[in-house]
Amino acid sequence: MTVVTKPKVVLGVSGGIAAYKACELLRRLTESGHDVRVVPTDSALHFVGAATWSALSGNPVSTEVWESVHEVPHVRIGQGADLVVVAPATADMLAKAAHGLADDLLTNTLLTARCPVVFAPAMHTEMWEHPATQENVATLRRRGAVVIEPAVGRLTGVDTGKGRLPDPAEIFEVCRRVLNRHSLARGVTTPDLAGRHVVVSAGGTREPLDPVRYLGNRSSGKQGYALAKAAAARGARVTLVEANTGIADPAGVDVVRVGTAVQLREAVLKAAADADAVVMAAAVADFRPAVYAPGKIKKKDDGGAPTIELVRNPDILAELSADRALPGQVVVGFAAETDDVLANGRAKLARKGCDLLVVNEVGERKTFGSEENEAVVLASDGAETPVPYGPKEALAETVWDLVLPRLRPST
Ligand code: CTP
Repeated sequence: MTVVTKPKVVLGVSGGIAAYKACELLRRLTESGHDVRVVPTDSALHFVGAATWSALSGNPVSTEVWESVHEVPHVRIGQGADLVVVAPATADMLAKAAHGLADDLLTNTLLTARCPVVFAPAMHTEMWEHPATQENVATLRRRGAVVIEPAVGRLTGVDTGKGRLPDPAEIFEVCRRVLNRHSLARGVTTPDLAGRHVVVSAGGTREPLDPVRYLGNRSSGKQGYALAKAAAARGARVTLVEANTGIADPAGVDVVRVGTAVQLREAVLKAAADADAVVMAAAVADFRPAVYAPGKIKKKDDGGAPTIELVRNPDILAELSADRALPGQVVVGFAAETDDVLANGRAKLARKGCDLLVVNEVGERKTFGSEENEAVVLASDGAETPVPYGPKEALAETVWDLVLPRLRPST
C-alpha cells in the first residue's frame, strides 16, 4: 500500500483586519489536500478566534511557545513544514521576520523553517510605502522569501490605495505553484528565481487614429500573464507591462498599464534598467497613424474613404537586445508566424538579436485568445526546444527554465 503524505503547510496569521480572509485561504488549502497548521499571533486572535482556525484546519492551534512544551512545537512546526505562508503579514511581522526576532510561536516557526516562505502583506498604504517596510521586504526577498505585492483598492475605513491583502484565490495559486516547484523529492529549498527582477510585456498595443478609433491586434495577454505569474511563483520580483488586456492584476506582480507602442517602450526600458531578464510577449504594433486626428474622422459626401498614412513604431525587442541595460541581461522575444514558421523564426532571432525567441504558429485554436499554445523556443546558441500543445502556463515554465541557465551570476 502506498501511503501518500499530504504536504504540510503552516498558515501564519498576523494581526490585521484581513485575517478573516485567511479563512478562505485555509479552506482552499485544506480542500486541495494540504495538511495545514494555523499559527496565529496573539493579535490575530482579536480578529478571528482560535476555535475557527482549529475547526477549519482540523489541527490544534497555539500562539505561544509555552504551550505543549513537551512537544517543542516552536521548533517542530517550522522544521516539519513544506511551506510557510503568512497571510496577512503586517508591517510588524515583516519587520520581525526580516530581523530574525522570535518572541512568539509564529516568529519561532519562521526562524526554524527551511522550506519556501510566502508573505502576503496587508496594511495601510503609508505603512507599506515606508522605507523601513520596503527595506524589510527587500531583505526577505533577497533571502529567498516570496513577498506578494499587496493589491490596490479599498482599505479599512474610507481609505483606498496599495495595501489590500490580495485575493485568497491568488495567494493560494502562488502557494500551490511554489509548493509544486519545491517538491521535497527535488530537494530544492530556495525558489530558483529568488532575488531576480524580471520584466514581462503582455497584451497588444493600440495606436489611436482619432478619439474613437485605433489600430490594434488580437493579442489577449494570457501568455504574458502566465509568464508573470510563473516568475512570481518562482520567487522573482516581476514587473508586468500590460497593454489593453483587461485582466486583473496577478498577486505578487507590479503591473504598469500602457496603451500604445511608444508608451510600452518607455515603461519596458524603465523597468529593464535593473532587470535580469526581459520577456517581450506583447504584440507591439509595427506601425501607427502618422497623424492623430483630434476630432472624429467623418465620412465624406463623395463616397470616398480617407487614406491613412502610417509611420514605423520603434522595435523595442531589437533595441533591448542591441543595447542591454546590464551586461548579461537575458532578452526573450515572441514571434507569431503563419508560414515557414521555423525558417522565419530563425531569421527573426538573428535580426532581433535576442537570446531566446518563442516561435508559435498562428492557427485556429492556437495563440490568440486561447488557453493553449504550442511553440518552439529558439536560442541564439542554436538550441531548439519544442513545447508540445498545452496550457500557456506550461510554456511559461519552459521559458523560465530556459532563461535560468542564461542568467548572469546572482549578486
Ligand atoms: N516587437 C517589439 N517592437 C515592435 C514589434 C515587435 O518589441 N515594434 C517584439 C514583440 O514583442 C515580439 C517580437 O518583437 O517579442 C516579434 O514581433 P514581430 O511583430 O513578429 O516581429 P517583426 O520584426 O515585426 O516581424 P514581421 O514583420 O515578420 O512580423
